[in-house]
Amino acid sequence: MLNKPFLCLLCILFLSTLVLSQSPTQTQAQFLPTVTGSISIPSPNVSLNQLALNVNTSDLNSLLDPRIYSLLIKNKTYPNTHCMYISTPRPEDNITVNGQLIHWDCPAGFFCLGPNNTNIINNNSTNSNTNSTVPCPPGFFCPENSAQPVYCCEGYYCSKDAKNITLCPADFVCSIGTVDPVYCDRLAICPAGSSKANKFLVFVLVFLIAIVIIVLFQIKKKRDQLKNAKYDRLLTEQKLRLERTLDPVKKTFDIEFENLGLILPSGIEIMKGVSGKLTHGRTCAIMGPSGAGKTTFVSLLTGKAKRTSGKVKINNVPDSLEKYRKLIGFVPQEDVMLRELTVRDILVHSALMRLPSDMDRKLKKQKVIEVIEFLELSHVMESIIGNEEQRGVSGGQRKRVNIGMELVAEPSVLFLDEPTSGLDSATALEVCNLLKKIAHSQGMTVAAVIHSPSPQAFNTFDDFLLLGKGGRIVYFGPTNKAMEYFESLGYRCPEDESPADYMMEVAAGKVKPVNREDITVPDLFEAWEKYREYGKASFNNTKIGMPDDETESASRNCCQAFWVEFCLPFFHIIQDIGEYIADVTIELFLFLKRSFCFCQRDPIRETPNIFIAFLLLFKRACLQLYRNRTQFLLDQLLHLGCGIFISLAVSNLDYIGKAPDQICQITPYVLLPICLRAKDSIQNVGVFMALGVTFAGISAGGSTFGYEKVVYWRDTSAGMRTVPYFLAKLVADIPRLLIAALMFTLAFIIFYSFKARLWQIYIIILLTYVAAWAMGYFISAVASKEKLSLVGTGFALGWGMVLSGATPKLEDVKSGGTFTYIGWFWDISAPRWAVEALYLKELEPRLWDEIKTEPLGHTYSFNDYPQCLWNILLIAFGWAVLAFFAMKLTNRDKHK
Ligand SMILES: Nc1ncnc2c1ncn2[C@@H]1O[C@H](COP(=O)(O)OP(=O)(O)O)[C@@H](O)[C@H]1O
Ligand SMILES: [Mg+2]
Repeated sequence: MLNKPFLCLLCILFLSTLVLSQSPTQTQAQFLPTVTGSISIPSPNVSLNQLALNVNTSDLNSLLDPRIYSLLIKNKTYPNTHCMYISTPRPEDNITVNGQLIHWDCPAGFFCLGPNNTNIINNNSTNSNTNSTVPCPPGFFCPENSAQPVYCCEGYYCSKDAKNITLCPADFVCSIGTVDPVYCDRLAICPAGSSKANKFLVFVLVFLIAIVIIVLFQIKKKRDQLKNAKYDRLLTEQKLRLERTLDPVKKTFDIEFENLGLILPSGIEIMKGVSGKLTHGRTCAIMGPSGAGKTTFVSLLTGKAKRTSGKVKINNVPDSLEKYRKLIGFVPQEDVMLRELTVRDILVHSALMRLPSDMDRKLKKQKVIEVIEFLELSHVMESIIGNEEQRGVSGGQRKRVNIGMELVAEPSVLFLDEPTSGLDSATALEVCNLLKKIAHSQGMTVAAVIHSPSPQAFNTFDDFLLLGKGGRIVYFGPTNKAMEYFESLGYRCPEDESPADYMMEVAAGKVKPVNREDITVPDLFEAWEKYREYGKASFNNTKIGMPDDETESASRNCCQAFWVEFCLPFFHIIQDIGEYIADVTIELFLFLKRSFCFCQRDPIRETPNIFIAFLLLFKRACLQLYRNRTQFLLDQLLHLGCGIFISLAVSNLDYIGKAPDQICQITPYVLLPICLRAKDSIQNVGVFMALGVTFAGISAGGSTFGYEKVVYWRDTSAGMRTVPYFLAKLVADIPRLLIAALMFTLAFIIFYSFKARLWQIYIIILLTYVAAWAMGYFISAVASKEKLSLVGTGFALGWGMVLSGATPKLEDVKSGGTFTYIGWFWDISAPRWAVEALYLKELEPRLWDEIKTEPLGHTYSFNDYPQCLWNILLIAFGWAVLAFFAMKLTNRDKHK
């Protein structure tokens, strides 16, 4: 969550750079003086002769000087307004040239650049339109006797025929060139004559929305309290039962393994010849120095890692534990669980997801209560798990929840990876006693990797597997016989040392047997093999030296070296790819089989079907949202904040129609390109909006899956399917998405004078959010949690800005050239379509002539609006599908 403020900061910095680079001088300054009617025309009262212009009406050259013309016309204030217009010379102005009074008339709604008797043009021009009386286009103001049109001034609106100007009424806002005043939407206070509406009442609306959300959360809290009371009752009933025991497991497992081995693709052998048996109703402690292969052993046995040699028998029949995934509990070393949920939430969810579907729901909840009572967690049942930032249950209690998550699923076999690491010795002993109780009372097969147990904790285990470096057995048998075995090899444990610690030192080769300083760890492995075969513990008297590495490498010829260095790694890559494809194909086949044969039951355990699983996962996702309610509200404020900044950035951007052609004909040549174009900044508004939404959306969407990947891996390894999980999270995100888009929209309109309807802007922002959110899903599926922010920023800049159609320009992209082969990127960019959609809806209500009569700029077209919305939706769908497959197809080893 920390990255969100950072992202916003980055967003703001970036946007401010963009604002600065908007060059207001070009878009605003050059035409605003015209618009506000403040053209500086020298006063006509100044005599022409005083300006040293030697005007001689008989001299054609003098008459053609445009500066003469500019002195004839005059800017005047329209009566009862502050608006200016450019007046033709009036008789009362008393403008004379060489003694002749100059004046001409013009009707309202027209402008007359000159008098209607321009003989020069009449005689020589091929242009038939020689009448200088030109209709004034909508958006301009031409009262009677206008020499040139002016933009309808702000705070007023003009009639479509440009004849009349009226003060903007109260509750409406009239920016420059207004024909239709825009309603303030009740979100702003707009007195008569308003030219801008700062909609600060939005904050009141936001406050009301926050109140509604808080009330909804409070209702949920009340319902929760009722539910808690129900569980408390159940707990009391459970306490009335005398014994804290669980029912025996339905199927017991005796797991026999022979010669288990693993050689890594690099050729390193990390496990070799591990043989033995794990029996039901007994606990086994797996110990060994760090890196000895304890985790590897558990992974090989459960099928999480693929063994390269060895056989596994289950209840004396060759079989694989992988098949019985639903009956195997695996407690990982880290407490992988959703930290914002309560102990009960987690255990109930685990039970409902993993217990047989034909088991009564009440019984499942009863099971949870039993486990809670059994694990002595009843007093913290309603506490959240918590993490480093938010205090929750203690470390020992979390460990017990970690075990409880597996116990509620009624497994027949329970593997635990270092369940006592990080716990104090008393709590560690508690956990070990608990394991013993489970195994003995339920007949479960329990094996736990244990790290430096106290003598008491060590003695709770029935069996003991000691591994040495290289993944080979040093001892495997009853715990109480272990010391006896080592003593028969000549080891003597000092009285003041714990036997468990001493045996660990033996396995690490740190202590030697009495009078046998030459004994090394490999000798211990061989001694164990001999003991297993002949039942007699002894070391070889005469050691046959194995060729050491140096002599071996010396004997390697060139071909062998080439094979090992170059061919083997290549071969392993091919092998990995092959295995990966086979794995995916098998899963796809099983998925299709399951989809087409609905009635086919899982012979091992029929767990809730895809629909029930969806509902359960949806409920959990909603619970996460509810438990994170403060975060939820803060997140929404962040969206609001992003919107406000974007709104500020676009507050001065608008569309102002182009001047009539007749005006451009008399414009100085250097200004002609500006005159011929409308002052169009609406595309930039779209780019800012899309950029803001993409940044905020990616960041918010990335948190949906990005922060709970490990939980997803744990759940899938316990049999959860990705489809219901993905859909449940997606559906649970809908309220977040809707409110985030609403917050952004409300903030966006605070300073921006929009002309489209509010709901139209909301729809466009919402769809863009959906696309950005889905993009966030994808990024979180492929990138690690730490890289999420950086990759998200890159994506937002790439898609939100470069591929938005503004820079590079869409018309350039479509014209081919450099973009011939990459032009399709713009077609699959949601921001590009969002910018167009906003542009179309913003331009539609504007009544400038060129909007209605000429093709739109940027290759846009009014007919494309529905297509734009569909395209954004399709792109969002595409990102969501990509995110799903990325989740499914990456890190497959962790799904097992
Ligand atoms: N997939 C793997 N790739 C490379 N090395 C591995 C892999 N799995 C295990 N190892 C190596 O095998 C040895 C045993 O690992 P592990 O079973 O995790 O030891 P531990 O006994 O501490 O649980 C370590 O040296 C580890 O680096
Ligand atoms: Mg380990």
